[in-house]
Amino acid sequence: MSHWTFDDMPDQSGRRAVVTGANTGIGFETARALVRKGAHVTLACRNSEKGRRAIDRIRAEVTGASAFLEQLDLSDLDQVEAFASKYAAENDRLDLLILNAGVMVPPASKTAQGFELQFGVNHLGHFALTGALLPLLQQTESSRVVVVSSTAAVQAAIHFDDLQFETRGYAPWPAYGQSKLANQLFARELQRRLRAVGSSVLVTAAHPGWTVTDLQRTSSFARCLSPVFGMKPPQGALPTLRAATDPEATGGEYFGPNGFFQMRGYPVRVEMVKRAKDDVTAKRLWAISEELTGTYYGLPPVRPSGLA
Ligand SMILES: NC(=O)c1ccc[n+]([C@@H]2O[C@H](COP(=O)([O-])OP(=O)(O)OC[C@H]3O[C@@H](n4cnc5c(N)ncnc54)[C@H](OP(=O)(O)O)[C@@H]3O)[C@@H](O)[C@H]2O)c1
Repeated sequence: MSHWTFDDMPDQSGRRAVVTGANTGIGFETARALVRKGAHVTLACRNSEKGRRAIDRIRAEVTGASAFLEQLDLSDLDQVEAFASKYAAENDRLDLLILNAGVMVPPASKTAQGFELQFGVNHLGHFALTGALLPLLQQTESSRVVVVSSTAAVQAAIHFDDLQFETRGYAPWPAYGQSKLANQLFARELQRRLRAVGSSVLVTAAHPGWTVTDLQRTSSFARCLSPVFGMKPPQGALPTLRAATDPEATGGEYFGPNGFFQMRGYPVRVEMVKRAKDDVTAKRLWAISEELTGTYYGLPPVRPSGLA
C-alpha cells in the first residue's frame, strides 16, 4: 500500500484517544481525523484559549464530535501528574496515547523543574505522562502509544555528560535533535520492556517529514524554506495516524513519508536512526528519565541485544 490516506484508517468508534499538543499543526489534524473516524478524543493543550478554538473548529465540522479539552503543559511535571490523575479518574480505558506536542529551537529556557525546555517537553514530559497513564493503557485491549519523532534525530546524540546543555552552553539544534532521538529510544525501549512482561500494549513511532506548522515559529531559516519543501498539516499527520491505527502494526514500527529524503509523501514503514537501536543507550536514558521525572514504570530492563 504506497498511498495510505485518511480513507485507509479503520473506524475508531468506541475508542478513547489523548493527543498532546492538539490545538494546532499535526496534533490538531491527528485529533480531527480521529474524531471524524468516531473516536472520543481528548485534546491535551497548554493554552486553553487555543485549545477551545481547536475544539470549536472540530465541532463545527463534525456533527456529534467527541472532542474534549484538557489542560496540559508538559513543561511542568506537576501538571503532567494532575492531567494523568484526572484522566484516570474519569475514564476506564485509553486506546491511543499520541505523544505529539513539541517545541523546536526556542531561545534558551527551562521547564518548571529546571530541565532544558526541548528535552523537558519533548522527552521527559511525555515519558512521565506515559508512565502515569500506563495502568489505563494496560487494562485496555489493543491499546497503543505513538511517539512523534523527527528526521532531526539523524545527526543527534544523547549527551549524558550534559543532558541539559549547561556546561557546554545552549545549542538549540543539537538540543532539539537530542530530544527527538530520545523519542525514538524511548519508543523502542518501552516496546521491548512491555513485550518482555507479556503486555499487549503496542508502541509505534512516526515522523511527519517536513510539514508547514507553527513549529518553525522560532527559526527564520526553517520558516523561509517551509513553503518550498513543506507539506500541509493534514498530509503531515498521516504518518502519526498510520502509526496509531494501522491494524497490521505489531509494535516497534516507525512510519514516515515515502518521498525524497522522507521529507514529503505518504506514510510507509521507515528505519529508525541507528543510534535509536542502541539498547545500552536506551537503557541508560530510561534510568535517567525515571530518576529525573520521579516516574518509575516498574518494568524491568531487558537484556541489550546490541545494534540491530
Ligand atoms: N512540522 C514539521 O515539519 C515537523 C518535523 C518533524 C517533527 N515534527 C514534530 O511534530 C510534532 C508536532 O509539531 P507541529 O509541527 O505540529 O508543531 P506546532 O504546530 O508548533 O504544534 C506543536 C504543539 O505542541 C504544543 N506544545 C508546545 N510546548 C508544549 C508544552 N510545554 N506543553 C504542551 N504542549 C506544548 C503546542 O502548543 P502551543 O500552540 O500552545 O504552542 C502545539 O500544540 C512535534 O513533536 C514536532 O517535533 C514536526
